Amino acid sequence: MKAYHIAVVGATGAVGQELLRVLERRSFPVSTLRVIGSVRSAGKSVRFRDQSIPVQELTDRSFDKIDIVFFSAGGEISRKYVPVACQADAIAIDNSSVFRMEPHVPLVIPEINAEDARRHRGLIANPNCTTAIALMALYPLHRAFGVRRTFAASYQAVSGSGARAINELTQQVKDAAQEPLVSGSRTDRQATPQVYPHPIAFNLLPHVDSFLESGYTKEEMKFQDEGRKIMHLPEFRASVTCVRVPVYRAHSVAVSAEFERPVSVEHAREVLAKAPGLELVDEPQNNRYPMPLSVAGKDNCEVGRIRVDCAFENGLSFWVSGDQLLKGAALNAVQIAELL
Ligand code: A2P
Repeated sequence: MKAYHIAVVGATGAVGQELLRVLERRSFPVSTLRVIGSVRSAGKSVRFRDQSIPVQELTDRSFDKIDIVFFSAGGEISRKYVPVACQADAIAIDNSSVFRMEPHVPLVIPEINAEDARRHRGLIANPNCTTAIALMALYPLHRAFGVRRTFAASYQAVSGSGARAINELTQQVKDAAQEPLVSGSRTDRQATPQVYPHPIAFNLLPHVDSFLESGYTKEEMKFQDEGRKIMHLPEFRASVTCVRVPVYRAHSVAVSAEFERPVSVEHAREVLAKAPGLELVDEPQNNRYPMPLSVAGKDNCEVGRIRVDCAFENGLSFWVSGDQLLKGAALNAVQIAELL
């Protein structure tokens, strides 16, 4: 089998670290690995296949002789360096949102639209994490019943905001052990958050990404915009509220979806039980349903709480959880590389 020269930009970050583990775990044919970070990582190294690999600083020469490069260092780095990588004939798999909606850039979830990857011109975008997890359950239902529109609320873990957010939650939990966090308490006032505008420990922030004129956040519109592109469904509509929750790892989404054709819970369960990359966990009588703690560290997403929606015509409500560092980021990116 041919082996590839691989680079990971952002290799020291939450997604980058996971990418290295996924490449190793799935025995991706890596011939050489270049791990790239900022000047802050100078002198650091990362582990890959029992080797210690020094982190290199990102430069215009980082992509020379590279076959595939994964970008997970944020939008600004992608905006500047993805074109540099393409110029150097490396194929870029980009985890940022910068290029996702560009018409010539495939946006791919391999279980849904693997075929789209074929028409790449040196760049394939990895979808938004919440969108990817929700679509893992919505798309099979769409194939069966034809989705029209959805209402959804997300419950997003702090690791989606990177390593600093994980530390921020840990610190705030420790601080709160000294004095409970209530409005106006010493801890509330002192915990000057760095990553989020408010304390995240023991709190919920109905605020993920920046606000748009419409009142939605950018994150909230990704489900509709990216969902249309991935499912090839230009009329798909999604009204979403994205919420950051004090969970370390794994996002969950509560979805109510309206379909063109009549639905039944039995048929929906049958469809979801067979869907690739998804597990049906739906035994409410036994307290079995998907949860962040049960999917954290797992490749497959889980879906449950499937019921006929009481507000929609031909509607289903369900709950889906998935590890956003895996299916929502690193795993999906490596699956795209496997397609290539
Ligand atoms: P570094 O650790 O050297 O700062 P996270 O999403 O967990 O916050 O991680 C962000 C990743 O993006 C890290 O690997 C970080 O590297 C990397 N990164 C951030 N800024 C730059 C930059 N200017 N050049 C290269 N890598 C960067």
